[in-house]
Amino acid sequence: MNPKNMAEIGSLKDCIGEIVTVLGWIDAIRSHGKIGFLVVRDGTGLAQGVILKEEVSQDLWDSHESMTLECSVALTGEVREEPRAPGGFEIGVNDLEMLGSSSDYPIQPKEHGVEFLLDHRHLWLRSSRQRAGLRVRHEVEQAIHDYFYERGFVRIDSPILTGAIGESAGSLFSTDYFGEEAYLAQTGQLYVEAACPAFRKVYCFGPTFRAEKSKTRRHLTEFWMIEPEVAFADSEANMQLQEDFVRYIVKRILERCQEQLEVLERDLRDLELVSEPFERISYTDAVNLLRRKGSSIEWGDDLGAPDEQQLMEEFGRPLFVYEYPKSVKAFYMKQNPDDDKTVLCNDLLVPGFGEIIGGSQREDDLDLLLGRIREEKLPEEAYSWYLDLRRYGSFVHSGFGLGLERTVGWITGSRHIRELIPFPRMMNRLSP
Ligand code: 4AD
Ligand code: MG
Repeated sequence: MNPKNMAEIGSLKDCIGEIVTVLGWIDAIRSHGKIGFLVVRDGTGLAQGVILKEEVSQDLWDSHESMTLECSVALTGEVREEPRAPGGFEIGVNDLEMLGSSSDYPIQPKEHGVEFLLDHRHLWLRSSRQRAGLRVRHEVEQAIHDYFYERGFVRIDSPILTGAIGESAGSLFSTDYFGEEAYLAQTGQLYVEAACPAFRKVYCFGPTFRAEKSKTRRHLTEFWMIEPEVAFADSEANMQLQEDFVRYIVKRILERCQEQLEVLERDLRDLELVSEPFERISYTDAVNLLRRKGSSIEWGDDLGAPDEQQLMEEFGRPLFVYEYPKSVKAFYMKQNPDDDKTVLCNDLLVPGFGEIIGGSQREDDLDLLLGRIREEKLPEEAYSWYLDLRRYGSFVHSGFGLGLERTVGWITGSRHIRELIPFPRMMNRLSP
């Protein structure tokens, strides 16, 4: 191996006619008598190595014949443009070295059941659709940071271990914390609210945990959430921020992830509609609409997945549903001054997944907030610090949480969000 001629496959376009060495894994392999093809993947792209029996030594030919899927290799030869080759480049191999063998690689080019693939998630990550989905996730994450950075938000890292229930007592993971009960964070929201008077516009972005006992295609027990919080922004401003933010992310993916969307065979029509204003409907009107369509939903029921799906069939593009009943939403949402049965909140629904965002204006009145904590029978002591935010300079503020996996699931047109996080955690899955 001559380290001087090392090249990443992603930059082979600058090496046409040169002899280079690429390091990677064998993604595909086939042989036709006197000619062998090895497709090598190095994380930056794919390149096809071509080996002609007549032009190489017997040893080299034999060593190529001993190669199997996912061997790691060093492959050396001259780079040629070849539009028909996977990746668009061919390397005329004149040296080949096996770095790590791979016999009986469990994932072969054939149908495997999803449980089998999830059991082999550590290997499944190498497959083309998985690489495409996770590459989109990576780009969405970067777009999120860029969006907030460009707008002067300060990132606040909220704790994962917490003593205060963030959302609801129903789906908590708890653990012993030196004799005290600690929970894994369901949300970072209460902490970003505390950071608002320090920085005005803030956000957190981290893993959140919910002991979801439901096995659905849109629930994980560990998922990543982005939660901005803005001082002096009301519910209307909050929805405007959500719309602008989601539009920015989708535009960025349409611009930068064409290749991945093609691998995933994503029909882009509904994504292109994101550039138009989002639809809006109040919860009350949504219930009336659903009832007219034959649903038996009653005012006061939360919208379930089938209700959200029905609304998406009606609208076909992102839809804000706002002002839900207080009884189905978390304690911190601001009571609607015009109707004490509803709160100033919204969900954002998208085709395929339904809710990707939950947001609200926060209750800034100390007594009303305390009343809600008591109504929900939450342990008051755990919220004394949170109530201080209403005691010392209370302020109108709002924010929202966008679920990363559901958002990436929607953008990539996936059926289930479990493929959009490197190592999914679900009720029946803690490994790998
Ligand atoms: O609506 P949620 O529960 O809102 C909150 O947690 C607020 N504290 C956010 C805020 O205002 N700062 O959750 C927000 C989003 C949902 O819309 C959904 O996209 C995602 O988080 N989500 C899940 N994603 C995957 N698996 C789960 N179990 C999820 N639960 C919520
Ligand atoms: Mg919600």
